[in-house]
Amino acid sequence: MNILLTGGAGYIGSHTCVVLLEKEHHVIVVDNLCNSKFEAIKRVEAITGKKVIFYQEDLRNTPGMDAIFRNNAINAVIHFAGLKSVAESVARPLDYYGNNINGTLSLCSVMAAHGVKNLVFSSSATVYGDPEVVPADETAPVRPFNPYGRSKLFIEEILTDLHHSDLSWNIALLRYFNPVGAHPSGRIGEDPSDIPNNLMPYIARVAVGRLSELNVYGDDYDTPDGTGVRDYIHVMDLAEGHLKALEKLATNSGLVTYNLGTGKGFSVLEMVAAFKRASGKPIPYKIVGRRPGDVATCYANPSLAGRELCWTARRGIDEMCADAWQWQSMNPGGYGETG
Ligand code: NAD
Ligand code: UFG
Repeated sequence: MNILLTGGAGYIGSHTCVVLLEKEHHVIVVDNLCNSKFEAIKRVEAITGKKVIFYQEDLRNTPGMDAIFRNNAINAVIHFAGLKSVAESVARPLDYYGNNINGTLSLCSVMAAHGVKNLVFSSSATVYGDPEVVPADETAPVRPFNPYGRSKLFIEEILTDLHHSDLSWNIALLRYFNPVGAHPSGRIGEDPSDIPNNLMPYIARVAVGRLSELNVYGDDYDTPDGTGVRDYIHVMDLAEGHLKALEKLATNSGLVTYNLGTGKGFSVLEMVAAFKRASGKPIPYKIVGRRPGDVATCYANPSLAGRELCWTARRGIDEMCADAWQWQSMNPGGYGETG
C-alpha cells in the first residue's frame, strides 16, 4: 500500500515509518518540521535501506496537500501531525486548536476530494483526564482538562461526524498511553527541542549528563510509593499497533477506537530505578511539589485492541529503558549535533 504519514518525521511517526517500510509498504511523509528534523527521515532510510518520499509542507496549506495527493496514489493516511505539549497548550490555546483542528480539517477535505477514506488518527489517553476507574477502557468518560487534550477530543468528534455523514470512511482513533523508548538500533528516538516536559527524555538527559537532576513531581499521591503511575509503552510496540490498525481498516471496519497501552502502571521512582539499571548511570533526583494538572494514576485496559487487532504490547520497561539509553548515549545532542 501507499501510506501517507502526516507528522512522519516526528518521534512516533519515524518509528512507524520503519515498521511500514519493513512490511514493504510505500511511505510518503508530509511534515512541516516544526518539531522534528529531516535527519530522522534520513536515518529511517538508513535503517531500512528503503526510500521515503518526503514533502516539507504544512497540513493547513490545502492546495499543497492537494498536490501531494495528486502526485501519489495514496491508499491510507496515518495522521500524527499536531502540537503536543500540554503546558504550551495552556499558554497558547489558539495555536493548538488552530494547528491541530485546522490541520485535520484540511487533510480530511483533501482526502475526501481524492476518495481516500482510510484514516488512522493519533489520539491520546489524555482524553480520559483523571480516570475514575483504572485500568481505563474505551468506554470510560472523556473529559480532558487542558486545550491539548480537548483538541484531541474535538478531532475524535469531528472524525466521528465525518464517518456518520459517509459510512464508507474507515477511521481508527488510537488513544496512546505514554510512548517511550527508541528503535533498538539507537539511530532514531525522541529528541525534544527544549528541556523535556516528559519523564523518560528528562531521565535520559540526566543519565547522559546534559541535565543535573530530575525533579519528581510529588510523592504524596495515593499510589504505592506516592509518585505518579503511568502506562509506559515502547514506541516500537506502538508503531506496530498502527500496522494492525491499517489492516483492520482494510476490512471495512467503519469507525473504531482503541487504547494502545500495556495495561500495567509504573511509578516515577520505578522508572528511575529501571533506567539506572539499564544505563548503569546514577540518576540524581529530588522530590518537589506536584505539577499542576497531573493525575495520580492512569493506565490502560488494552484488551479491545488485543481482541480486535490481535495486537499486544510485548516489550517491558527494561527494554524501554535500554533502548532509550542506546539512543541517548549514541546521540547525546539528539539529531542536532550528529545531523
Ligand atoms: P512529534 O512532535 O515528535 O511529531 C509530530 C510531528 O508533526 C512533528 O514532526 C511536527 O513537525 C509535525 N507537525 C505538527 N504540526 C504540523 C502541521 N500543521 N503540518 C505538518 N506537520 C506538522 O510528536 P509525537 O510524539 O511523534 O506525537 C505524534 C502524535 O501522537 C501527535 O499528534 C501527538 O499529539 C500524539 N500523541 C503523542 C503522545 C506522546 O507522549 N508522544 C501521547 C499521545 C498522543
Ligand atoms: N514527571 C516527573 N518529573 C518530570 C516529568 C514527569 O516527576 O520531569 C512525572 C509526572 O508527574 C507523571 C509522570 O512523570 O507522574 C509522567 O509524566 P509525563 O509528562 O512523562 O507524561 P504524562 O502522563 O503527564 O503525559 C503524557 C503526554 C501527554 C499524553 C499523555 C498520555 O505528555 O501528551 O502522556 O497519557 F497525552
